[in-house]
Amino acid sequence: MTPDELKQQAAEAALRFIEPRLERDTVLGIGTGSTVNHFIAALGDLRNRIDAAVSSSEESARRLTALGISVIDLNAAGTVDLYIDGADEANRHLQLIKGGGGALTREKIIAASAKEFICIADESKLVPVLGKFPLPVEVIPMARSHVARKISAMGGIPVYRDGFITDNGNRILDIHKLDLRDPRAMEAQLDQVTGIVCSGLFVRRPADRLMLAGDDGVRTLLPNS
Ligand code: 5RP
Repeated sequence: MTPDELKQQAAEAALRFIEPRLERDTVLGIGTGSTVNHFIAALGDLRNRIDAAVSSSEESARRLTALGISVIDLNAAGTVDLYIDGADEANRHLQLIKGGGGALTREKIIAASAKEFICIADESKLVPVLGKFPLPVEVIPMARSHVARKISAMGGIPVYRDGFITDNGNRILDIHKLDLRDPRAMEAQLDQVTGIVCSGLFVRRPADRLMLAGDDGVRTLLPNS
């Protein structure tokens, strides 16, 4: 199967998982990316059973709205029951690197608000140690050079994502070769750098369920499995 077919498999498995959990007032959190796009497409069949969705990006919001699914502001949602999103990398503790699509800040906020975070991906995203994928960091535009110097001092190689502006009006630095053997400590350290809005490390709030599609089907990893 191609990587895209695997993404579709993971998305469809997630849909089967959430379907029996949908109640009249369920609010779904919907992430961003090609895997989630498959999920959104499949979600169209359930549109009448979904009260509302909170979206991590303008792009996903457009796709949801086009299907007739109501997209609401997180502040109006009260609580997000189930959050479905992809990842750029995941480890066995369900800690993640996210932000390849640049939506990391809204994704981290929705994940923090969600009762359950279901991460969907193809098998290639599972790694023993996070960090082969360059870590995206969202920065305030005027702080870009300052943050880049701080990150260099931490041993990373920051690369400016030229021409990309986040939905929040900020910029992205993709950090190569950062030592993420202790991702919890690194997430905390990055949170301390003035000018960083958010890093793509999801460690304080990992996924609750990781659904990975491979050639043999979709398997589910839980935090202690
Ligand atoms: C967007 C993300 C995505 O979840 C991540 O980039 C994975 O994308 P894809 O499903 O296209 O592989 O974090 O900010």
